[in-house]
Amino acid sequence: MEDENNTDSVSESNAKYYTLEEIKQHNMSKDTWLIIHDKVYDITSFLEEHPGGEEVLLEQAGADATESFEDVGHSTDAREMLQQYYIGELHMLVDDMVDPCPGGCCGWPHSPPNGRDD
Ligand code: HEM
Repeated sequence: MEDENNTDSVSESNAKYYTLEEIKQHNMSKDTWLIIHDKVYDITSFLEEHPGGEEVLLEQAGADATESFEDVGHSTDAREMLQQYYIGELHMLVDDMVDPCPGGCCGWPHSPPNGRDD
């Protein structure tokens, strides 16, 4: 048997990454994904169980629900429940990021030039 390293849990190091474009497709009641704190959750099977109702979840379907999730002040139990719906991480595209130095001081997002002037 060679199943010693075969765990079902997904750790962040080998997490699957999803782009916002991809997540946006899962915005219907039979296929619902949410982003909370840059993590992606497939909550399709949770919709009917949610104590706050499925409406509020569907309003955020395929989008970032971090703010509304935090606004409600969910309990620790609620936060722990998230884990069972975890499917991966939000993939940050360079195009979506704000250039930290528009003047090009650090050469972002590419590596800086080598600095030699010979
Ligand atoms: C997958 C993500 C979510 C999980 C696992 C979750 C879980 C829960 C749980 C366990 C409760 C019961 C109270 C508590 O333990 O805090 C609750 C209540 C509630 N949730 Fe969520 N929730 C999620 C996402 C959201 C989102 C995105 C909203 C956005 C509007 C929301 C709105 C509410 C509201 C309004 C209540 C209060 C219901 C009441 O007491 O009348 N939840 N949620």
